Amino acid sequence: MERLTVIALSFAILLSATVAYGVSSDQINGVEDDDLLIRQVVSGDDDRLLTAEQHFQNFKLKFGKTYATDEEHDYRFRIFKANLRKAKRHQKLDPGAIHGVTQFSDLTEDEFRKNFVGVNRLRLPADAQKAPILPTDNLASDFDWRDHGAVTPVKNQGSCGSCWSFSAVGALEGANFLSTGKLVSLSEQQLVDCDHECDPEEAGACDAGCNGGLMTSAFEYILKAGGLEREEDYPYTGKDRGPCKFQNAKIAASVSNFSVISLDADQIAANLLKNGPLAIGINAAFMQTYMKGVSCPYICSKRNLNHGVLLVGYGSAGYAPIRFKEKPYWIIKNSWGENWGENGYYLICKGKNICGVESMVSSVAATQN
Ligand SMILES: *[C@@H]1O[C@H](CO)[C@@H](O)[C@H](O)[C@H]1NC(C)=O
Repeated sequence: MERLTVIALSFAILLSATVAYGVSSDQINGVEDDDLLIRQVVSGDDDRLLTAEQHFQNFKLKFGKTYATDEEHDYRFRIFKANLRKAKRHQKLDPGAIHGVTQFSDLTEDEFRKNFVGVNRLRLPADAQKAPILPTDNLASDFDWRDHGAVTPVKNQGSCGSCWSFSAVGALEGANFLSTGKLVSLSEQQLVDCDHECDPEEAGACDAGCNGGLMTSAFEYILKAGGLEREEDYPYTGKDRGPCKFQNAKIAASVSNFSVISLDADQIAANLLKNGPLAIGINAAFMQTYMKGVSCPYICSKRNLNHGVLLVGYGSAGYAPIRFKEKPYWIIKNSWGENWGENGYYLICKGKNICGVESMVSSVAATQN
């Protein structure tokens, strides 16, 4: 009898100790730790000790954010603090880049994914033409299509999951430049409104404007429709379900053929040099908090490809902290405006298929008009 009481008592002590520990660690994470993490996520050179409120204030000013009610304001502030914590986690997992406050810092993960990243899982169609294997002996160590006039200024998809259209359009803009010598900004909205091309392999997987799509399906649509209009003739609204206003007479660029490229960094580089910027899929998990530097997270799923972007070049030596000095990286054009990342661009390490960056690559060729 006595022994049983002792056991029960020590169990109770153990239990209360666990509870007490849980509470105190929650308090630390919730309150005291905030200041520490805020110092860490705000870039190093300007190490002022701002409170979370002050950071939120700066964030609202910088990105022109206003909230309709006090409740909304408080709700967004709570999310903002949670995103500072997320940025700190990303910083630990991805020390070659700088993570912190971005224009997405007041959005929940769900809102971010739904509105700025594709909802569909991106994939390559199994029946697509495969790119021929190219020689890779004398590849330049550094190359950037921006230096050769093949890349239009960074665009902004707004809150519409149309990343796939920006990726496909960027690839065709580059291919059209290569075949005609002229850089013409082309219409994403035409794809959003008119492209309902379906993946023959998967029932119901069709290009769906702000609800996602596939770059290879977009190429297929452009091939069938005859081409794309210029951006200025068919401007971007970022809104779904508008009627298709495409006019044949206004075609500014056309697809002659497209192909998918094998999962190999050298083949990707060789195809980039030969055919211009490439449409790629990526897992955007680290992009919500990315500010600059070469991103090379220790853990980032290669399978969950949810964002379509444009590969425009590569470099041999990243300029992040010393131990990342020799790190080769890809240069990726995003469609979240110039205020995001490195003037609208994302740098990610090359050759390891980090975040699936090398697993869904396609190339397009334009007809010579
Ligand atoms: C287009 O077709 C040609 C000829 O078959 C091929 O050499 C080229 O690689 C293709 N281009 C693309 C981007 O698929």
